[in-house]
Order: sequence, then structure tokens, then C-alpha cells
Amino acid sequence: MPVLRSLRERLAAERPFAGLRVGACLHVTAETACLVRALAAGGADVGLAAANPLTTQDDVVAALVADGCAAYGRRGEDADAYAAGVVAVVDRGPQVTLDDGADLLTVLHAARPEQLTDLIGGTEETTTGLVRLRALEAEGRLACPVIAVNEARTERLFNDHYGTGQSTLDGILRATNLLLAGKTIVVLGYGWTGKGVALRARGAGAQVVVCEVDPMRALEARMEGFEVMPALVAAERGDVFVTVTGNRDVLGAPHFARMKDGAVLANAGHFDVEIDLAALAAAATGPPAEVLPLVTQYDLGDRRLNLLASGRVVNLAAGQGHPAAVMDMSFANQVLAVEHLVAHGEQLGAGVHAVPEAVDREVARLKLASLGVEIDALSEAQANYLRGWTPG
Ligand SMILES: NC(=O)c1ccc[n+]([C@@H]2O[C@H](COP(=O)([O-])OP(=O)(O)OC[C@H]3O[C@@H](n4cnc5c(N)ncnc54)[C@H](O)[C@@H]3O)[C@@H](O)[C@H]2O)c1
Repeated sequence: MPVLRSLRERLAAERPFAGLRVGACLHVTAETACLVRALAAGGADVGLAAANPLTTQDDVVAALVADGCAAYGRRGEDADAYAAGVVAVVDRGPQVTLDDGADLLTVLHAARPEQLTDLIGGTEETTTGLVRLRALEAEGRLACPVIAVNEARTERLFNDHYGTGQSTLDGILRATNLLLAGKTIVVLGYGWTGKGVALRARGAGAQVVVCEVDPMRALEARMEGFEVMPALVAAERGDVFVTVTGNRDVLGAPHFARMKDGAVLANAGHFDVEIDLAALAAAATGPPAEVLPLVTQYDLGDRRLNLLASGRVVNLAAGQGHPAAVMDMSFANQVLAVEHLVAHGEQLGAGVHAVPEAVDREVARLKLASLGVEIDALSEAQANYLRGWTPG
């Protein structure tokens, strides 16, 4: 995680977080430990709780505790132990929170209003958390500034586009061991994530078909050289289908009725509602069969359809999720967002705020530097020209 490492070196020298109490509720993984260490290098006193008991790495908790961090969590812990970890971090009186799902800020707002005045602000790592915090803001109850790290451009590019694009195909390959070259892959949804899937599938030699409901995105896909068509038409063509829309029932009974024998169905969207699983079960002549781990086969009489990972998010269920290089960008944004809150929290005011453009640019600059890539700089005359309005 070279970007985070370079930030840690600067923070250790400048100590902008000296004495700052930071509470974090994130997936407790090795990458998160690097984030905690960067914040601690800057002087922060960090308490960390698990944002999901199923993703906690016990050795990481142990290593952080040995480092002096108040880390809570155990893989597979029950709901009470999980909630106790969140409360333990809240008990430490955080001045800045880092959330992945808004747990800390939710508990603070719902159960500890007396602690809200201590808050300088928070950051949020995921869409679901932002939905909750924006709902709180809409009710006029959000008490501090929150920076939407999830929506930084560098986060979108690495997390959604490159990260999910690659890891979705990785999950499909791990589950099926298919040869992608020569196959027709249908990508349903050409947003941040779908673009990444389509790009990587084309790179693997597949014929890529895109299905969209947004004319701008459909046009973009067509101009990128992908075939664009309605899902019902694509249903007859595809060997592999990937839903990545954030919507429900994108593939349903009419599509199943047209699909080829052996077609593979995978979902990379957040919830397992993108493929209509009830309609798939109803179309089958009998109960489905587990033909491989994570591959469930439905016999439709004349054809068989293969569903991956029970329709759950395939890159996490069948693969390893995001590589460290992706989390490097997310957590670099987190560190710089905390620094921004400490420096400017009072001026920001309560509400959900975008990651400042300067933070995004700095993360991109550091990533380029870590790759050994140099770029040009505007001359003063060029900068003035771009700011001006006179002809010529
Ligand atoms: N698997 C992962 O690790 C991962 C990572 C990031 C995002 N996601 C999830 O992927 C989903 C998409 O995220 P995004 O950032 O690409 O969203 P996005 O809004 O940028 O793109 C979604 C696209 O789907 C299209 N769409 C909606 N309904 C459709 C339909 N019925 N048929 C065809 N297209 C349709 C929309 O027009 C849009 O262009 C979300 O559920 C998100 O949470 C998953």
C-alpha cells in the first residue's frame, strides 16, 4: 500500500493528529491495520471495532492490540459481541469517527447525544452508510460534518471500476474455471462497476454485450465498441451474464426462458435481488443441484442454467474481494479526509460533504509517484490562459 505508506511517513514527521481520539468501525483486515498505523503515526489514539464479524482477521486484531491500539472483534462473533465492540469504541469518546456502514455515528446520535458535542466530524466508506447519514441529515439531526469517502473519484475509479471489474471476473473464474476467450459475456448495467467488468471481459477475449436503461450510458458503451441490446435479446446470445445495476429482477423468467443450455448467471451488485431467484427456482423441473462449490444448476427440462454464489455478490462470495492496491486508495482518502476535518471541520458545518478536490488530486498524485509515473505541469502562462476569457 505505497500511497498510505508515503502518507504515514509524512504524518509521523508532522504529527497533525497529536492527542486526537479517533474511533473507527471498519472491516478488521490487514489493510485496515495499515490505516490505523498511519493515523497512529500522526499522533492519533485509535479505537477500532469490526464493521462485519465475518470479515474480521483475528491475527490482525491481536497485532493491533500488541501495538497499543484498542481493537475489538473476533471472526464469527455473535451480534451482542459485535455491538459491544462498537459501544467500546464509542465509550472512548471519539472526536473523529471512521465508519463503514455508519454504525458509530448511528450509536452516537441515537444513544449518546451528550457525546455529539465532542465530535469534530466523521468519514464514511460505503454507500449504505451514506444513505443512513443522508437520512439523518434530511431530518435535520446530523450533528457534525461527514466526508463521503465512498464518492471520491479515486475511490470510484479503483474500488468500483478497476477493483470490482477485475475481482468479479476472478470470482466467476474461481467458481467455474471457464475459458473467457470466445465466450459472449452480457454485462447488465454499465455504471462505474459495469464498465470495469465489461473492460476486463473484453481484455480476456470475450465478446461483450451491454444492456442498459440509461441512454447516455448505453451510448457510451456503444461508442466504446460494445454491442448494446435489450436484455431479452441478449438472453439468447450470452454464455455468461453479470448483473451489476443496483436494481432488482434484472434477469427474470422471460430471460431464463430464452437462455442457452449451460449459461452462467452471476451478480456483482450489492444485494442478491438482481437475478430473480424465485422465478429461477419456479422455472426448474426439480430442486437445483450443487454441481461445483458455489455453482448451483437449475434444470429447465431442455436446458440447464448455472447460478454462481446463490446470486450473492460474486467477487466477495467466490473471490477474495478487493486487492490491497484498491484499499490503498480508499484509505489514503480516509487519512486525508481526517486531516481535512481536523483542519477545517468547524467551517464545514454539519452535513454530508464531498471529498475535497484537492484530496482526490493528492491521492492520484501519490499513486502516480508510487508507480514512477511523471506528468507535466501547467506553465504560468498556460494556467492564466485557462483562467481567462479573452479570445486567442
Ligand atoms: N461487488 C462489489 O464489490 C461492488 C463494488 C462497487 C459497487 N457494487 C454494487 O454494484 C451496483 C452498481 O454500482 P455502480 O457504482 O456501478 O452504480 P451506477 O449507478 O454507476 O450504475 C448502475 C447502472 O445500472 C443501470 N441499470 C439500472 N437498472 C437497470 C436494468 N434494469 N437493466 C440494465 N441496466 C440497469 C443504470 O442505468 C446504471 O447505469 C450497486 O449495487 C453497488 O452497490 C458492488
